[in-house]
Amino acid sequence: MPVDANQIKAGAPADAPEDLIAWVSEIAQLTKPADVYWADGSQEEYDRICEEMVAQGTLIKLNEEKRPNSYLARSSASDVARVESRTYICTEKAEDAGPTNNWADPKEMKETLKGLFDGCMRGRTMYVIPFSMGPVGGDISRLGVEITDSPYVVISMRIMTRMGDPALKQIATGEFWVPGVHSVGYPLVDADGNTREDVAWPCNDEKYITHFPETREIWSYGSGYGGNALLGKKCYALRIASALAHDEGWLAEHMLILKITDDKDRVFHLTAAFPSACGKTNLAMLRPTIEGMKVETIGDDIAWMRKGKDGRLYAINPEAGFFGVAPGTSEATNPTALHALDKNVIFTNVALTDDGDVWWEGLTDEKPAHLIDWQGNDWTPESETPAAHPNSRFTVAADQAESISDDWDDPHGVPVDVILFGGRRATNVPLISESYNWEQGVFVGATVSSEQTAAAEGAVGALRRDPFAMLPFCGYNMAEYWAHWLEVGKDLGDKAPKIFQVNWFRKDENGKFMWPGFGDNSRPIKWALQRVAGELDAEDALSGRLPKKGDLDLSGLDLSDETMEKIFHLDPHAWGVEADLTEDFFERFGETLPEQMTVELAALRDRILAAENDQASTKQATSANA
Ligand code: GTP
Ligand code: SPV
Ligand code: MN
Repeated sequence: MPVDANQIKAGAPADAPEDLIAWVSEIAQLTKPADVYWADGSQEEYDRICEEMVAQGTLIKLNEEKRPNSYLARSSASDVARVESRTYICTEKAEDAGPTNNWADPKEMKETLKGLFDGCMRGRTMYVIPFSMGPVGGDISRLGVEITDSPYVVISMRIMTRMGDPALKQIATGEFWVPGVHSVGYPLVDADGNTREDVAWPCNDEKYITHFPETREIWSYGSGYGGNALLGKKCYALRIASALAHDEGWLAEHMLILKITDDKDRVFHLTAAFPSACGKTNLAMLRPTIEGMKVETIGDDIAWMRKGKDGRLYAINPEAGFFGVAPGTSEATNPTALHALDKNVIFTNVALTDDGDVWWEGLTDEKPAHLIDWQGNDWTPESETPAAHPNSRFTVAADQAESISDDWDDPHGVPVDVILFGGRRATNVPLISESYNWEQGVFVGATVSSEQTAAAEGAVGALRRDPFAMLPFCGYNMAEYWAHWLEVGKDLGDKAPKIFQVNWFRKDENGKFMWPGFGDNSRPIKWALQRVAGELDAEDALSGRLPKKGDLDLSGLDLSDETMEKIFHLDPHAWGVEADLTEDFFERFGETLPEQMTVELAALRDRILAAENDQASTKQATSANA
């Protein structure tokens, strides 16, 4: 028998306010769960739910000696990542979602969802998860409540957000909160009362990840994985929050946050937007290879930023944990992340070793002789499929990283000095260049892109645009989002952070990365900080300002002048082709494109032309000398 409203009222915590109880009752009436459980966020609760999931077969307890208090979950093969094609922004007018989002009419979508959610929790427990994004009660923080029928979501949300009683108490003060409803879409009882057995990873082939930015609601159906299901993350902290931020004059961004102390003991803060799987977690835990520089982690995926009383831009990490890509994480690439995974981790879709530990591609040079792969099958080095899914992830509390800054949970945030924009670019984009001003920085952010495939290397034809690394995460019209960035910059004036473009991924003619990356990324960052400190001049170039020869700290690095030249080379012709592509891209936004973007594109074309003329005159001079 599904629970009724009286039972829900009786079972609610004393702190739960009427409007929350009413909403929970309404959702229970629709989804018809067998019972309702209010999560308090305690360790005891976490351990109990984990034990229940081990008994049910969803979690595998890892070897307690090797990996204390840690678990492995294996998802269904059809539910391994965010699904952008099933992600919707539902606004009254289609143009308010803009050309880069899947739009749906809110009324029609609500009808569809009503059908899907009707009875979708039959036979299951419905969990109510109050949570705070950012420290509970902080000025920049925001509250939410996720309803879910997935215990995996409950334990993950406990790591990724401030979840449970303190958040509920804050909600009870009457502060604004965002409701999110999530179901895996796998009821255990049908409308006629027929029951079925549960499976290890329940989900549904039909998936809907839907957002209603105007009414600030989230409804997600059919997936239990990552950003589809942990509604505090992309759904709230980016898609809904970007809409809130637009209306309220702040920024919700797909950015890591760092605290950097340089060799003169000066403290700087940096945020950086890179598309998914382009190295935010790695940079967030950077170990500098240059003397005297110290980097501490504040966040690895999302930044909320707001103007502070002193007129500077302040950033918080709204999350409380890392949901990081496992493959490629090793003692060589990211020792800090690796050490953070010693205990208290939920792994999803990595491989299981014979002694009850975990493994993924890139963890060790030598592959183990035998593993159980992410789908539960025997695996040997001869196997043709990877042992861990390429998007397998770890979920771990942020304060387990040895690099975590003391300021990481400061509710006021940290003042931002530098903003980086980067994509995965095999061609064209230099290691680092500084924007001439905020407006050009916004243009650079708006044109962030990655080459689509290895096959496209060398050709600039196949760029996947990912403006501000927000393509799948902007909850409203992307062009209006650019306009909002321009407004924020105007408001910050000369206190605005400096904007830089970076690219760790440039390749040579043999397809090899030219820049060593990882810890050595501290070198271009050092240059950026020196520019902020006003210590160095720079050289005007077509993409922005570049380091003058000798200014980039390359001490102890074995890179030839020729390679460094290639890493910074700007080919006016290739940039001309890219400017044409940018124009095509901008055309998609029609009237909504801010005028300033057209102005910036024209200025880029002027600089390209000047560079072409320079080249031509150099050639002439050379032939005249010959
Ligand atoms: P999401 O969590 O999906 O938002 O992604 P993320 O940006 O945190 O991505 P992550 O840090 O997991 O990206 C990892 C990928 O970037 C791996 O393929 C790394 O090898 C690669 N990577 C990170 N830093 C560098 C670098 O400096 N150089 C090169 N060549 N690759 C890098
Ligand atoms: C991303 O895809 O950018 C992620 C992973 O950070 S997820 O939370 O699944 O969106
Ligand atoms: Mn991300």
